[in-house]
Amino acid sequence: MQEALLEVHNLTKVFPGIRALDDVHLTLRSGEVHALIGENGAGKSTLVKILTGVYIPTNGTLTLNGKEISFKNAIDAQQAGIVAIHQEASMFPELSVTENIFMGHHLRNPKTKKLDWKTMTEKTRELLARMQLDINPDTLVKNLSVAKRHMVEISKALSLDADLVIMDEPTSALTGREVEDLFRIVRSLKEEGKAILFISHKFEEIFEICDYYTVFRDGQYIGEGKVADSDEDAIIKMMIGRSIGHLYPEHTPKIGKEILTVEHLSQLGAFKDISFKLHEGEILGLFGLVGAGRSEVVRTIFGIDKSSEGTMILDGKAFKPKGAMDSMRRGIALVPEDRQKQGLVLKMSLTRNISLPVLTNLCWKGIVTRKKVEKEYVHEHGNQMEIKAAGYHVDVDAETLSGGNQQKVVLAKWIGTKPKILILDEPTKGIDVATKAAVHQFIADMADKGVAVILISSELPEVLGMSDRILVMHEGYQTAILEAKDATAESVMRYAIASVQREATNA
Ligand SMILES: Nc1ncnc2c1ncn2[C@@H]1O[C@H](COP(=O)(O)OP(=O)(O)OP(=O)(O)O)[C@@H](O)[C@H]1O
Ligand SMILES: [Mg+2]
Repeated sequence: MQEALLEVHNLTKVFPGIRALDDVHLTLRSGEVHALIGENGAGKSTLVKILTGVYIPTNGTLTLNGKEISFKNAIDAQQAGIVAIHQEASMFPELSVTENIFMGHHLRNPKTKKLDWKTMTEKTRELLARMQLDINPDTLVKNLSVAKRHMVEISKALSLDADLVIMDEPTSALTGREVEDLFRIVRSLKEEGKAILFISHKFEEIFEICDYYTVFRDGQYIGEGKVADSDEDAIIKMMIGRSIGHLYPEHTPKIGKEILTVEHLSQLGAFKDISFKLHEGEILGLFGLVGAGRSEVVRTIFGIDKSSEGTMILDGKAFKPKGAMDSMRRGIALVPEDRQKQGLVLKMSLTRNISLPVLTNLCWKGIVTRKKVEKEYVHEHGNQMEIKAAGYHVDVDAETLSGGNQQKVVLAKWIGTKPKILILDEPTKGIDVATKAAVHQFIADMADKGVAVILISSELPEVLGMSDRILVMHEGYQTAILEAKDATAESVMRYAIASVQREATNA
């Protein structure tokens, strides 16, 4: 086996009220892709932040090429050859792609010492080409989709030419081809002899791209080994201390009356001519590749965006949402995709985030007077989602939760509003396998209670496993509505890439 590039010994990190890492170790070798595996809140991102100088450890040592090192800040780590793509995007939305990529390591003209934007733009263009990304270096980051933003962040890590590249759930915002592009890059980094630390909740990715793995549970080291010598079941057992039953619940749909009719709904530049009927108790999957327009469709149904054409009927009455508040009052809930920007108030407590949609019921003259009711409410809905934080009593900011736990807060927030139509945009993104099963059960339970569910997911097995019917989109168009029991991964995918239509026109 190769010599260690980076070793972590007896590492501990304590936050007020929680031991995020408790005496863990990890060995990373050059030319190896190493998976760090663990449930939501296991301490993975905390370790990443220690390795990149964001957090100072409470205890323990790091050695790089046999020498003990310590980082005071992120620049130290960068100079030691360690870069990370963090779980939550950490870019500057108002700056251009080039400005973001060269942030912290600007190039200067050797003679004049002035910033050399021409070369930086050129280098950015090369990097983007290497990633096969069709993005103009001058585009402001805020104008990019979540997926593209993520790819730019990956390009930034590559521009630093580090010895250790850390990727904390890099694929959670990517699909299909983009994941393949990323894996191609991971493989070439490996061939160049770099060490890669790869974090993901998706087992197929771990088995495809990783050579070695280490498992943490509740901040503790559990074990490690070669990926080739292991299997999914064994790893899940290490992760959660038991195996899990079904990832998708056994559930017989009880389809009730029609609740929403969407006819020829269009939005200029985003999607065109979407038509479907949604029934009580039904789970309608919405599938398509990133950029197909799925999120835009549900945002329009929810009233955040305006439609340019088409009609909707909600519960027998014409429905023209005036905005999100209007839709909520009429019984629609939307759990958005981008939890950090749309789903959560990061600087607000965990409790208040969950009670936010029902806050008016808890207030008197604008002040929250019914604090006890609020606590009970939050307890009930938070427990249902198994949120792991430094205890509810410590009213921690949502910001301090692990990525997956933030996602659970967003879900918990909407359960309590007792919607008639529940729209979920990528609800299990970043959620560990055990909780994923719990979220699936929750969705099926909601449907059994008569709630109509629209489920957007980029994970095809999830769409196939959960939906009663599947609406497939391709580049803004609806290409099919399939009965889930007749659908296969291949048939859905064919409509998503629209090869069916192309075949038809060729014939
Ligand atoms: N800045 C912080 N302040 C307080 N607690 C924190 C902070 N950062 C993380 N934690 C806590 O440390 C624990 C580990 O969090 P971490 O983000 O490392 O988990 P993770 O393994 O990355 O999970 P996920 O898979 O959900 O991303 C969690 O309980 C989290 O709430
Ligand atoms: Mg994390």
